[in-house]
Amino acid sequence: MTLYMIGLGLNDEKDITIKGLEAVKKCDYLFLESYTSRLSVSLEKLEKFYGKKVFPASRELVEKRAEQILDKALEKDIGFLVVGDVFSATTHVDLFLRAREKGIKVETINNTSILTAVGVVGLELYKYGRTASMPYFQESFKPETPYEVVKQNLRAGLHTLVLLDIKEDKSMTVNEAIIQLLEIERKKKEKVLTRTLKIVGCARLGSETQLIKYGSVSELKDYDFGKPLHCLIIPGKLHFMEEEMLKLWTI
Ligand SMILES: C[S@@+](CC[C@H](N)C(=O)[O-])C[C@H]1O[C@@H](n2cnc3c(N)ncnc32)[C@H](O)[C@@H]1O
Repeated sequence: MTLYMIGLGLNDEKDITIKGLEAVKKCDYLFLESYTSRLSVSLEKLEKFYGKKVFPASRELVEKRAEQILDKALEKDIGFLVVGDVFSATTHVDLFLRAREKGIKVETINNTSILTAVGVVGLELYKYGRTASMPYFQESFKPETPYEVVKQNLRAGLHTLVLLDIKEDKSMTVNEAIIQLLEIERKKKEKVLTRTLKIVGCARLGSETQLIKYGSVSELKDYDFGKPLHCLIIPGKLHFMEEEMLKLWTI
């Protein structure tokens, strides 16, 4: 039988593609990968729209007990639903490979990802460097990698997309991400994210309440972006067309 890996898009239940929805209708079981990103609608709303039960799939289930999903796919059609696009900024290659090893047919149905939705900001997608991921800091865990990625990209004149952590009960805001970047900056005694550097904060891209703001590090640190999800962009060297677009979002 088939494992359908289906991208759901970024916002609500209606962002699924027609092909994705046709696959959902065929499936005997649906799993929603629920730890790397999230839709703005509840599981119940999704189930109502599909007319089917949807099982939330934790990181533990997908990464450590994937057999429970794959064994079902030996006999039934299974839908593995991923918010955004299936293989964008996520780690589902492992599930794909394991399914293939078991001789399970896998079909991928793509959708929009945050990696492409940021195009609306007006910064050329070809000119982004490495993407950074910002985890919630803990007392004994304050990785400098996101800061280093921003620094290297800036040196190369490239833009940086910073994706923000999601925990079960909370998702990181633009403000929290900036505060953490400044904490690393202070510790390293460097001057990369100077308070006058202009950056872009985004919230709920792809939704009707999408918000994009361009301003200094200090301005964005205190700006209220509202409901999740948020991400941050540090622009590199700007082309005049990019500058024109950024002006639209000035605080
Ligand atoms: C691991 S990435 C998403 C991967 C997903 N498979 C995709 O293709 O978009 C999750 C992070 O991207 C950012 N993100 C996702 N959707 C967003 C949205 N609609 N608006 C702003 N940021 C978003 C947030 O920082 C979120 O924590």
